[in-house]
Amino acid sequence: MKYLVCVITALCIVSTIQLEEETTENSIAIKGTTDMGINNFGLNLLKTMMKQNENHNVVISPTGIAGLLAMTLLGSTGETYNEIAQLIGFSEDILKNRMYHEDFGTRLQSLNSKETMTLYANGLFVNRNTTLRQVYQTYLERVYKGEAFVTDFGDTDEAKTVINEWVKNHTQNRIENFLQQPLPISTKAVLLSALYYSGQWSHPFIPEYTKQLPFQTPTKEVLVDLMANFGQFNYVFSIENGLHMIQLPYNDSVTSMYVIKPRFPKTTTITELLNRLDFEKIDNLINQMSRKKCVIRFPKMELESKLDLKEALKALGAQSMFTPGVANFAVMLESDEAAKDTEDNLITRISAGDGESRTLKQMVDRLMNPGVHVDSVMHEVKMSVDEFGTEAVAATSALMARSAETFYADSPFYMFIRNENTKLVTFSAVVYDPTE
Ligand SMILES: *[C@@H]1O[C@H](CO)[C@@H](O)[C@H](O)[C@H]1NC(C)=O
Ligand SMILES: *[C@@H]1O[C@H](CO)[C@@H](O)[C@H](O)[C@H]1NC(C)=O
Ligand SMILES: *[C@@H]1O[C@H](CO)[C@@H](O)[C@H](O)[C@H]1NC(C)=O
Repeated sequence: MKYLVCVITALCIVSTIQLEEETTENSIAIKGTTDMGINNFGLNLLKTMMKQNENHNVVISPTGIAGLLAMTLLGSTGETYNEIAQLIGFSEDILKNRMYHEDFGTRLQSLNSKETMTLYANGLFVNRNTTLRQVYQTYLERVYKGEAFVTDFGDTDEAKTVINEWVKNHTQNRIENFLQQPLPISTKAVLLSALYYSGQWSHPFIPEYTKQLPFQTPTKEVLVDLMANFGQFNYVFSIENGLHMIQLPYNDSVTSMYVIKPRFPKTTTITELLNRLDFEKIDNLINQMSRKKCVIRFPKMELESKLDLKEALKALGAQSMFTPGVANFAVMLESDEAAKDTEDNLITRISAGDGESRTLKQMVDRLMNPGVHVDSVMHEVKMSVDEFGTEAVAATSALMARSAETFYADSPFYMFIRNENTKLVTFSAVVYDPTE
């Protein structure tokens, strides 16, 4: 079976060598439930990346990235903690955050299912001479099922080999050479999250009708294989937002792709449209969908992307984790053997929820900074969309039926895949040119 989506996110923590000055930009506030916080984070990240790569496709896994940031949050303190918490819609209150972690961890684990062919995994590689705090490792294993491994980052080729093997193992061999270059020799820890999904349409496209047709990118016209489908689909047309949206379900009955397009692409660009949307609005639109007879054209495509999310995350307000001397991962890594007993005592109290939140936070903020910072956040995504599904293809003669809604994705659009049980957006993309 073909993959549909596979994603790897890796966050590389290196030891801090020198101090640099960094400026702080504005940050954003997110409120609501775990899935709403995560989905809004994903949309904000996508918009930021659209700005940084104007008129180029952007493909990301909001859930994969947020999963990794949640594991990072768990290990951080001080400003680093507050910024990451705000970014993914968690709280600054460490006791409240335990509920967010439990809730998010449960949702992530419930993505895993043999029937839907969804595999989600977290991993952590830590340098041989760096000590992971036991309390961190235990919590990570329990809540995020994050396996911890010890490796020698001094042997850069060996470290690269084992990480690439982990990635390959958790993407059904679809991503083979994730790290092309060895990691810096000063690497102390690498956090990884992998997400693999392989699905089939519940209403397959009709292969005989796939045709090369023009697709209007922002700058030119390209020829694209546009697939065709016809039938009853959930659809909404919003005059107020100047958009229409369609739901294309997968056959596992818990996963759907949603596609949003400007209703009048000549007067509204996809960028303008997305800038007016957040996930509360998108959720409302989903609730307004109703079954309509639809004629659909959608590109058959393979999307691939590999990039460093560092600049986008900084632009969204998560500056300090990247800033040497400011970044603080004191809950993840030990800095001083002598102080170990007291520190572990404090942390054990926190993980037992024993004490008053503000006092606990002050204690944690006093832990010795182990002097490491995040060097890069690498994100690789592969996705393929084709006609196939399991249902027998129904009579095709009615394809050009009258009185049907037409949804032709023949100019830039936004799409996302959502798990309906957890409401988490596992994958999202803005496509300017399917042939890119
Ligand atoms: C790492 O630890 C080993 C023993 O576990 C020791 O022999 C070695 O000198 C250490 N290396 C560094 C760079 O501290
Ligand atoms: C990858 O899978 C193989 C075979 O199951 C196993 O032997 C190996 O230890 C795994 N490697 C990692 C890094 O998970
Ligand atoms: C969905 O499609 C896959 C792949 O063909 C198939 O193995 C699975 O049984 C289908 N599931 C359902 C519920 O039809």
